[in-house]
Amino acid sequence: MENSRREFIKKALYAVLAGFGILFLLSIFRTLAPSRKEEKELSFFPLLPEEAVPRRGVKKTELDYRIGGKERKMRVFIVASPEGLTVFSAVCSHLGCLVNYHKDKREFICPCHGGKYDLNGRNIAGPPPAPLTKLPVKVENGVVLVGMKV
Ligand code: FES
Repeated sequence: MENSRREFIKKALYAVLAGFGILFLLSIFRTLAPSRKEEKELSFFPLLPEEAVPRRGVKKTELDYRIGGKERKMRVFIVASPEGLTVFSAVCSHLGCLVNYHKDKREFICPCHGGKYDLNGRNIAGPPPAPLTKLPVKVENGVVLVGMKV
């Protein structure tokens, strides 16, 4: 009777230790396994009809797009030149204020801390640490489309 009781306790102890061992191995596996973060896909959203875009100069507009079924808006600038169209997000790379275009200076200027960007979106003065975000753009069937990773 005493032996069978000891055997039972021994087996129960082994079972508990085995359970902890499995949990330990699983936590190591999770730590070492490659991250399963999903890569966002590039999707194109209509911005404007091609005829609404000036041949030269800068036009401010808003991009409507969807992420996870939710409607979003983003202020963007289209810069048209003989080389083609470029679209920049209006979000300042410093602290996220929305920049404005100053035609007289041919610069994008941030109203918050005076950061300046040239027509190529390069940060040229003030605190912005990086250029304006350039968005992928293409024209299909007379519509300017802008790419967003969603
Ligand atoms: S947020 Fe634009 S310069 Fe600071």
